[in-house]
This record gives sequence, structure tokens and C-alpha cells, in this order.
Amino acid sequence: MSKEKVFEAVDFIKSNCTLVPSIGVVLGSGLGNFTSDLLIEKEISYKDIPNFPISTVEGHSGKLIFGELSGKKIVVMSGRFHHYEGYSAQEVVFPIRVMKCLGIKTLLISNAAGGVNPDFKVGDLMIIKDHVSQFVPNPLVGKNDIEFGPRFPDMSEPYNFKLIQTAKDIAGKNSIHLQEGVYISVTGPTFETKAEYRMIKAIGGDAVGMSTVQEVIAAIHMGLSCFAISVITDMWVEGFEIPITHEEVLQAAKAAEPKLKLIFNALIAVI
Ligand code: HPA
Repeated sequence: MSKEKVFEAVDFIKSNCTLVPSIGVVLGSGLGNFTSDLLIEKEISYKDIPNFPISTVEGHSGKLIFGELSGKKIVVMSGRFHHYEGYSAQEVVFPIRVMKCLGIKTLLISNAAGGVNPDFKVGDLMIIKDHVSQFVPNPLVGKNDIEFGPRFPDMSEPYNFKLIQTAKDIAGKNSIHLQEGVYISVTGPTFETKAEYRMIKAIGGDAVGMSTVQEVIAAIHMGLSCFAISVITDMWVEGFEIPITHEEVLQAAKAAEPKLKLIFNALIAVI
């Protein structure tokens, strides 16, 4: 995706909405209720924005929502793009580039993920402290545009340490138990085989999911600070494997959403 296409989308949005967001929020599967506390200024459907991909997955509505929350101007992606829908890695991160050009400095991300750490249980929230991106195409493959960022971005702290600390403080004050771990990204759309879950655990993963990492790579490329939380919607335990359905994933995400909402709201207030 060329920067001209990004700028075209940005120009369209700016001509329809004067709010300049400082924070971008990406909502994961079943986690759309976050926006109920938002003082909405403007909603723009993805389908109306030039060059924007269109979300197809169940549980994602597909619009940018601009508004104020906890005194901050934010933009929320209600519905995100997944590689498994057929979008290229560059298309998946297109909205992240657009949000950066609209003014965001910080990106908050949520997702649904499968847990492989035996200390976890369904419904837990896991702060992503690091990730493995190597199973999905990297969105920076191809000609680098120096206007967005460097050819070889550093990835020693993709998830901002200060934001993680602040989130832990918020969780502690509100008696919310937070897990912390490494997120392994896979393309999906198949859930993992037993052997794949075993591999994910063996390479140091605590959770596995089909989103987030490409978005974070593009965000870090552009110098944004990132914070991401997984809702553990299903567990893989060696010898006790049970089949998973997308409906169960959405249901578990919905049940854990109030905790996530509280943390995001409080975090936004202090960023
Ligand atoms: N695997 C991959 N992606 C997921 C899972 C899972 O177990 N749960 C929710 N998203």
C-alpha cells in the first residue's frame, strides 16, 4: 500500500471529522462494547473511506469511531482486518498507518487468544509483554517508505514498558487479576492442532492468536507506543484437549470484556 493511498484516506477522514485523536484503540473479537462510554463525535464506516479494506468476520462491525473518553480524544477501530480474511499484511496494517497520520501517538489493542500456559484459565486477561511474529507475513516486507519509518526497526520493546506498569497498577487497585505473557501469532483461520499448540508452548508462548502482531509491527515502525491485552477465550492443556468454536471464543471474550474496558478506560485517562 503506497503512502498516497494512506494520505487519500486521511484526507477523506479529515474532511469529515475535525477531532484530532492522540490514542488509537483496536477492538478484538467480541470486544466491541468498549465504545459505550465514549462521547462519540463521528462514526465513519470503513466502506466509505477510500482504500480501506472491509471487515468480513462475525463480531466486527467495521467503522472508525471518533470521540472523547476519560478526557482524551481517541479513535476506535470497531472491527479489524485479519490476514485470514484474505488481506495482505500491508492491507491489515493500513488503518494503523491512517490512524498514525491522523495524529495518534499511542495504540491500544485487544484480542481473543488461546491460552497454552497452564496457569491461565478461560476469562483471564493477559498483558502481551512480547510476541513471536515469524509465522505470519511481516507487513514491512517490500519497499520501505522512510516517511513512515526505518528499514530495520528495533523490536526490543514492542510493548511499552511504562504502559504495562501503569496497567498493572490499575488492575491491582481494582482487584483485577492480570496475567502477562508472550503472544504467538498465527495466520488461522484454523485453530491449532495438538502438535501446533505443543509447539507454541515449546517456543515460549503463553497464548496464540490470529491478529495484533502485524498491527504492532507497523505501529512500532512509525514510532507509536503500543499496549495490548489478550482475553484468554480457550485453553489448550496437554492431554485434555477439547474442540473450540468461534462462538465460544466470542462468548468468553464478551464475559471478560468489563475487566478489559475498565483497564483501557483508566489507562486512557493517564496516557
Ligand atoms: N488459537 C488461535 N487463535 C485464537 C484462539 C486459539 O486457540 N482462541 C482465540 N483466537
